[in-house]
Amino acid sequence: PYPVYAWLRDVAPVHYGTTNDLWLVSRHDDVLAVLRDARRFSSDLGNADDNPFNPALRSPRALSRLLDRLPPARTLLTSDPPDHTQLRRKVAKAFTPRRIAALEPRIRQIAEQLVDDLDGDLVRDLASPLPTIVIAEMMGIPAARRDDFKRWSDELVDGLLTGGSRLKMARSAIAISWFFARTVRSRRRSPGDDLISLLTTRDQDGDALTLGELVNFCILLLVAGNETTTNLISNAMLALFDRPDLWRRLGEDPGLASAAVEETLRYDGPAQGLLRITTTEVVIGDVTIPQGARVLPLLGAANRDPRHWADPDAFRLDRPSNDHIAFGSGIHYCIGTALARLEARVTLETLARRHPHLAPAGPPTRIQSPVLRGLRTLPVTVRPAT
Ligand code: HEM
Repeated sequence: PYPVYAWLRDVAPVHYGTTNDLWLVSRHDDVLAVLRDARRFSSDLGNADDNPFNPALRSPRALSRLLDRLPPARTLLTSDPPDHTQLRRKVAKAFTPRRIAALEPRIRQIAEQLVDDLDGDLVRDLASPLPTIVIAEMMGIPAARRDDFKRWSDELVDGLLTGGSRLKMARSAIAISWFFARTVRSRRRSPGDDLISLLTTRDQDGDALTLGELVNFCILLLVAGNETTTNLISNAMLALFDRPDLWRRLGEDPGLASAAVEETLRYDGPAQGLLRITTTEVVIGDVTIPQGARVLPLLGAANRDPRHWADPDAFRLDRPSNDHIAFGSGIHYCIGTALARLEARVTLETLARRHPHLAPAGPPTRIQSPVLRGLRTLPVTVRPAT
């Protein structure tokens, strides 16, 4: 997409696409301005049938109706203030940097184990299972249910985001909703020290999330966190395979893994575009966007805008500052940044230490999605070339 982004930034920085009825915003400063203006650029996408994100964003809501016939529940990602402010305050406590940092030893163990079993495909064997195992453990999902959980989660994300079977997606969404609803109820009765128990506790004002809100949030964590982190790991390895000198340096100095993760987020981030709806007429530059229009701020284009970055198309580990917006900005700024960064860094460190000769063993295949950037397969060999 990067040559297209360059054209958009230079020729049509606010471009109306007639075929998909979307306003594409591609310059760094404009993208940032859109994300930071939640009043005029709403995240409440409603139930419009032609909304390309609709299945992803609406299904948790629709599904929550199946749960005890509750009224439709709010979802963090698709709500505006004041609902968003309330929900975000309630769930932020689960993702503090300190809580996440404490997970490092366990994440390292999981990465070591998956690297032990690496058998030909980096996505299938490592990048894909790692985030799912980590979030399942954080949620306290019993080991006996892990396989179901992984399958449901994969099928759900696949159908929602990357063109997989809709039937499987719907079945898995229902299964996982029931599963989370049962889990929430049992944690309310007897809490443990897991993420779901933490979320079921009342905050200082005595407020608690409703059952529907809790189920939606659990599903959101899978949808927003798993595929994206998988793609971050895969995109990082793809960039490093193209630059064997950097991969070698990473092996000698694993401290570089953090810089590689940040540069991947900028250079080839998992989330390329977000969706907003204008609540009023808005002027950007010399273009007027009408009220009720669907706007796609292109994170991937902003992160390579030469108006903001020196040498934007180069993958460099020595950038003096890297203020990419791969995790968004403003009130919806990703809640999982610390977790995603930790998982990706530990995975790269583990791979670089254990397999300094890791190399591609064939062409990768890409996931098909206009807004998600990542790989479905990445064939690798761990033996040095002879
Ligand atoms: C929000 C990207 C990993 C949970 C977002 C947003 C972006 C993003 C761009 C903003 C959405 C918007 O403004 O509409 C990413 C990327 C990730 C990643 C690139 C990995 C590399 C994670 C993880 C979790 C997570 C690991 C949790 C387990 C969330 C949640 C939101 C969010 C709950 C909604 C926040 C809100 O609406 O206030 N993410 N994310 N993400 N992310 Fe992430």
